[in-house]
Amino acid sequence: MSKPHIDLGSFWLPHASSTMAHEIDWAFGLVTWVSIPVFVGIVVAAIYFVIKFRRRSENDELRGLDHAPRLELAWTIIPGIIFLGLFWVGFRGYVDSSVAPAEALEIQVTAEMYMWTFTYPNGTVMVNELGVPKDRPVKLIMSSKDTIHSFYVPEFRIKQDVIPGTYTTTWFQATEAKETALECAEYCGVGHSDMLATVKVMEPAKFDEWLEGGGGDTKMPPAERGKMLFQTRSCTNCHSLDGTRIQGPTFKNVWGRTETLSDGKQIKVDENYVRESLMHPQAKIVQGYPSTMPTFEGLLKDKDVDAIIAFLKTVK
Ligand code: CUA
Repeated sequence: MSKPHIDLGSFWLPHASSTMAHEIDWAFGLVTWVSIPVFVGIVVAAIYFVIKFRRRSENDELRGLDHAPRLELAWTIIPGIIFLGLFWVGFRGYVDSSVAPAEALEIQVTAEMYMWTFTYPNGTVMVNELGVPKDRPVKLIMSSKDTIHSFYVPEFRIKQDVIPGTYTTTWFQATEAKETALECAEYCGVGHSDMLATVKVMEPAKFDEWLEGGGGDTKMPPAERGKMLFQTRSCTNCHSLDGTRIQGPTFKNVWGRTETLSDGKQIKVDENYVRESLMHPQAKIVQGYPSTMPTFEGLLKDKDVDAIIAFLKTVK
């Protein structure tokens, strides 16, 4: 799976693929196009006045200062009407984007440094992959485990802060069966820019199948399924397959390798070590590496661990 990517649409904005996007783009366009003549008008007038009314000599004194009620009323009332219009457009969009339809599919979102976890009503847990049905409202109930993150899907035009100790919500309805990117839009630490996830919009029937299969195809051979899990569960952020050193040890030729641990003991990479490292990653840290791996306890089922083991055996 390649890195999640955003479809670049126009010069201004990315491609729009949610029901809300057009309303938001319209509001954005309106504010932009109203601002341009106002900006130009103010700057041109300011330059003109500076030149025309500049002080010409020592004897040049201010006099004849008076009110121009009609002019003052005009420059108060006309912008007032424009601002109320902009407020109305913005507020309507804000209300629409804040209140999810009652029949929406509810998904729990957990943000943490530096990954996204999605929990579905049937208990399926996905990491860094948000599968959703097309043409159906999806409500997200979000919370953070550590610091403030922000849930941002540019193509859907939604952005909502995700905060520890409280729940925030947002919703969307996707209009195209395609993949797009979810980004973290709040600087949350060194891994902030890697805090990406794929949003996978599927036809409703395909989504039901996907959810039934725990977010993938259960009929896949174990090693292949393990590879899918490796690629979709944020493992790639820290473990390479080609020998490159990232945050964690590479998985090239990992199976059966003897590793020296931080306490000097040696261990052979086998089924039990892999399982322990997934569930209790701090238990045995390979020497020279930081103990930053998150636990996958509750996130990976037994058959998922089996699949990952099957996959690791194939990485040469
Ligand atoms: Cu999470 Cu930035």
